Amino acid sequence: MTILVTTPNGGVGRHVAAALRDREDVRFLVRSQSGVEALGPVRGEVFRGDATDADDVRRAVAGVRRLYLAHPFAEDQVAAETGLGLAALDAGARRIVKLGARAFRGAGTVPDAVTGAHDAVTARLRDAGVPELSVLQPDRFLQNFLPAAASIAEGTLADPAGSGARGYVDVRDIAEVAVAELLADRPVGGEIELSGPDSLTLAELAAQFGAALGRPVRHVDVPLDEAWRAGLAARGVSPWLVDGLHGLYANYRGEGVAGLGDGVRRVLGRAPRSAADFAADQLAPALA
Ligand SMILES: NC(=O)c1ccc[n+]([C@@H]2O[C@H](COP(=O)([O-])OP(=O)(O)OC[C@H]3O[C@@H](n4cnc5c(N)ncnc54)[C@H](OP(=O)(O)O)[C@@H]3O)[C@@H](O)[C@H]2O)c1
Repeated sequence: MTILVTTPNGGVGRHVAAALRDREDVRFLVRSQSGVEALGPVRGEVFRGDATDADDVRRAVAGVRRLYLAHPFAEDQVAAETGLGLAALDAGARRIVKLGARAFRGAGTVPDAVTGAHDAVTARLRDAGVPELSVLQPDRFLQNFLPAAASIAEGTLADPAGSGARGYVDVRDIAEVAVAELLADRPVGGEIELSGPDSLTLAELAAQFGAALGRPVRHVDVPLDEAWRAGLAARGVSPWLVDGLHGLYANYRGEGVAGLGDGVRRVLGRAPRSAADFAADQLAPALA
């Protein structure tokens, strides 16, 4: 059995890779030499290739029986994930563990490009008849806040997701679920909603971060206005991506209180990591 792992340096993928780096039967798809170096030593195989290049994809999936399928939110996401998934199926893969996203529910939500991309990929894989398909549907990642650690430490959690509450999830839990689904004799399969143990507002999340850091932290709302768009554009984010993120954040703002997914308990038989766990063992050390 060969397992192909995509995005092994990604937010979730790096933890999937860490769990599988000592196995002989794992192939890691890495785009660049710097990615090979970031991945570090593995017992299996490192395959240099681009998920959007049909030739690379055909060679990457040769002999693969199981696939961890992930891709960043990008204009090429649906093409890349669909191409990889269908090529793997053609090459004889039986199981795909796809990283998706939790669907928005409720009157205040609208179609958005992020969940739309996941829906499109999942529909193609289902139509193609993947024998064992697990679709991980995590809520918002706690690790999204790591790049803002310095300003959080100064007392401000600035974020445009509004005043609703949701089950912020630790990417280490998502990766553990992915690995369990990849390796199980009988995977749980189907849609697996993943969230943390509690539904938290951003004000509550800021307070938990503050408790771990030993100083007050408060949430400051960032309106989804022209200044927000201009800030992203100035950082080189494309207009397509800005529109997609606008739809995503509008849904975070509109959903109100998001339900909690039970996937961590269903697959791993334990409670998910909490925001306090994340703050203590990742956010605080990032500032040390
Ligand atoms: N952030 C959240 O709160 C959240 C919540 C729910 C769901 N999600 C979903 O999570 C997914 C992203 O997962 P993630 O954060 O684990 O991934 P990620 O960190 O966004 O993945 C980045 C990795 O993808 C690799 N990559 C990009 N384009 C590639 C290509 N054409 N060929 C090969 N490799 C390529 C990059 O390689 P290089 O290093 O070479 O560039 C990089 O290592 C998205 O689909 C998103 O919708 C996110």
